[in-house]
Amino acid sequence: MTANPSDSVKIIPSLLASNFAIIGTEVERAVNGGADAIHLDVMDGHFVPPITFGTQMLKAIKPYSGLLPIEVHLMVTDPLKYISEIVEAGADIILCHAETDSDLKATIREIQSYGVKAGIAIKPETGIDILKDIMDTVDVILVMTVEPGYGGQEYLRSVETKIKGVRKLIDLGDSDPELEVDGGITGSNIRSAYLAGARRFVAGSSIYGSKESVESQINLLKNSIDGL
Ligand code: DX5
Ligand code: ZN
Repeated sequence: MTANPSDSVKIIPSLLASNFAIIGTEVERAVNGGADAIHLDVMDGHFVPPITFGTQMLKAIKPYSGLLPIEVHLMVTDPLKYISEIVEAGADIILCHAETDSDLKATIREIQSYGVKAGIAIKPETGIDILKDIMDTVDVILVMTVEPGYGGQEYLRSVETKIKGVRKLIDLGDSDPELEVDGGITGSNIRSAYLAGARRFVAGSSIYGSKESVESQINLLKNSIDGL
């Protein structure tokens, strides 16, 4: 049997679109629905306007996540300050933005000093040159396909040019960081993001915003990549 393209991708539900009143159950739905990781959006009301969750929330959901890695997407002005407490609270992957005030290299080194995976996130308008001398040291590169800050926004198709550019940089480079996209991912655009080169897909609204099960929404996303 030939492999489907979707066999090589990861689908990562974002808790931002889940029901916070039953967040442990929402994490379990992702675990049982075949998710590849859980995405937690930490916002500080400064780097982006809203405030969401912090380390207490991470600690609270950790027991529900089983073997699934929890990736923490830090949308905060000074991520370096928080790395040790986020690691302690149970993060498996920490993604920090290239546009923050913290020294990016020092932040990545700090994350990795705890044996935790590190990733760099860039906003839709940020040029990819910023990645060049650091991308070979990280596990994940996250290209935002919406402006960070809010769930439920529309996928920015124009960002695909940048996804392709990052894919090229990765393919030419010495290491193989996973290329992730986050924002507005649905069954109607996931295939073109895949064809542009993305392999990890964060999805909030299209998974938790649906009346269908998490499993059926994940399968829908995978089938869309396969062109079914
Ligand atoms: C936006 C967050 C995303 C968001 C995605 O700033 O980083 O992770 O939860 O949600 P949807 O899929 O609804 O765009
Ligand atoms: Zn996110």
